[in-house]
Amino acid sequence: MEDIRAVFEKKFGAPAEAVFSAAGRVNLIGEHVDYCGGKVLPAALTLKCRVAVRKNGLNRLRAAATDIPDFADLDLSDLSRYRGLKWGSYSAGVADEMQKAGYHLVGCDILYECTVPFGSGLSSSAAIEVATAYALARLGENPIDKPRLAVLCQRAENRYCGVNCGIMDQFASANGRAGHAILLDCETLAFEYIPLDLQDCALVIANCNKPHSLVASKYNERREEVEEALRIVRGRFEVSNLASVTPEQLEACRADMPEVIARRARHVVNECARVRESVRVLRAGDLPAFGKLLDASHRSLRDDYEVTGPELDALAEAAWAAPGCLGSRMTGAGFGGCTVSLVRRADVERFIAEVGERYRDRIGYGAAFYVAQIADGIIDEGNV
Ligand code: GLA
Repeated sequence: MEDIRAVFEKKFGAPAEAVFSAAGRVNLIGEHVDYCGGKVLPAALTLKCRVAVRKNGLNRLRAAATDIPDFADLDLSDLSRYRGLKWGSYSAGVADEMQKAGYHLVGCDILYECTVPFGSGLSSSAAIEVATAYALARLGENPIDKPRLAVLCQRAENRYCGVNCGIMDQFASANGRAGHAILLDCETLAFEYIPLDLQDCALVIANCNKPHSLVASKYNERREEVEEALRIVRGRFEVSNLASVTPEQLEACRADMPEVIARRARHVVNECARVRESVRVLRAGDLPAFGKLLDASHRSLRDDYEVTGPELDALAEAAWAAPGCLGSRMTGAGFGGCTVSLVRRADVERFIAEVGERYRDRIGYGAAFYVAQIADGIIDEGNV
């Protein structure tokens, strides 16, 4: 691949001033609970979005990418009119939200290079948004507050891209730390780093390679369902969010809930308990126990939350039967995308071969595998 700086100079006719990057993420556990005020446990990956940037002395944001010919030329004084842009809506949305929040933006040229596979559920969109936000904040010489940038990126995705997503992905992309997972309370945004000591194990990510087109509508539908569940619970109990509801409270409301809504709520309540338990066993170095929690999370997402689908189920089930696998679950929004499996290092190769073969036999096409490396979220590659 040609160096991003060389491509920048070709596309914009002048050298880049700086290169920054923001990471894709894998969520270890705590799925579909961020928008319910729950705690999540994501980690930033070495798969990332890099941006090369340069001030252009114009009041315009000009954006291009290394691997596609698309180009966006955005007027910084009229950003709200770029909603629904085919390419460049992330850049426009992030810049718009930053400006509204009082950031000083300067015109610049920006080139994107993304190694997070699109549509993989590893948050390529968050990586693009956070890389954009960080670059714009730095070029305009604004004070850097990474959690705040994550919130603005989430808002951009909600308003510009029509996905009513929670805060997890942007937060992990901006705040990830090498060798650590982030335990994030999505209600308060309080967070702490949990050292990820995987001992003789590795995290293996498997991409089911299903084109996931219906994600936005299905995702938004789940959000409405859990909002309905919360309204029903609030008819009986005073609770701040669904994540804080106890299993007993939920049981007491069951008769008031349509069956589907009760299952959605049960997933949220049980998944939040699994996150607490995961942190406990990870701190104790009990990886087999963590693996069992991963399996239970997948079953709950399959049966109660119904966001897995045949491809992710095929991957998880093949992983459960494969050598050296301590646990496996889907990660991210679901309906396609990836699983994450905890696998003994010595068995990783056999694991990939066997799961890959079973998956192909069952689904008809292949999966892609990556051994996850946990990295810093934002990396400043410095001035060129
Ligand atoms: C997507 C969203 C996140 C989160 C996950 C599910 O990745 O962007 O906010 O809701 O799905 O856990």
